[in-house]
Amino acid sequence: MMLDLNEVESFYGDAQALFGVSFSVAEGEVVALLGRNGMGKTSTVASITGLLTPKRGLIRFQGQTISGQPAHKIARAGIGLVPEGRRVFPNLTVRENLVATAIPRPDAQVSWDLDAVYDLFPPLIKLRGRMAANLSGGEQQMVAVGRALMTNPSLLILDEATEGLAPLVRDQIWAAIRRLAALKLSILVIDKNIDALLALAHRHVVLEKGRVSWTGTSDQLADQDFRHRTLGL
Ligand SMILES: Nc1ncnc2c1ncn2[C@@H]1O[C@H](COP(=O)(O)OP(=O)(O)OP(=O)(O)O)[C@@H](O)[C@H]1O
Ligand SMILES: [Mg+2]
Repeated sequence: MMLDLNEVESFYGDAQALFGVSFSVAEGEVVALLGRNGMGKTSTVASITGLLTPKRGLIRFQGQTISGQPAHKIARAGIGLVPEGRRVFPNLTVRENLVATAIPRPDAQVSWDLDAVYDLFPPLIKLRGRMAANLSGGEQQMVAVGRALMTNPSLLILDEATEGLAPLVRDQIWAAIRRLAALKLSILVIDKNIDALLALAHRHVVLEKGRVSWTGTSDQLADQDFRHRTLGL
């Protein structure tokens, strides 16, 4: 198993956000994490990536326990994060953003370097010397995805990577994610666009108030009635 969460409970101070979250992502699998606002999607991502330390439960990545480890160690183990809100380094150039946290893995099956990222996002080529603060939202999002890929992750996590983008740019980001899925990268993806997720994800995990309320396939989730009535999505 690529990623395995077992009864994960996480807190912000005294406030509990996750109440025993369990699910897994297999190698080469694309799993969508769904749920309305505030249901615990980002908290789950934070728990996986070490930004939030689970109080109870276990998270394993490629067989190793990662829960309790610091974020930089988890990144180095091979989990790449495209965080909610993009969070590019505003005072670094595009190129500097991409290399700042890069982890070269030349022996990997698919190895990401600057050329590979520019090939995935051609608009970044002519912007490579530009400060990230001076980019559009879509361009920043390309940098955020590229920066995560430069760590050569075995698992890529995308938290609302198309949020707040114009339709055309949004399509470019989806096209890139589809290309990554075709390369058999394991992906955990969060997004508001259910139709895009139905087309992309092998499996879906729905969170409700910090708990997994449903897991299933795109076929099951494609039924709008079921989605509205049972899942409230
Ligand atoms: N930094 C924080 N401090 C305290 N509580 C937080 C913090 N971040 C999130 N929470 C709380 O944890 C719960 C889960 O929030 P989380 O951000 O994980 O939801 P989400 O599913 O990602 O929502 P959204 O769709 O809005 O991004 C919510 O009740 C939220 O208010
Ligand atoms: Mg969130």
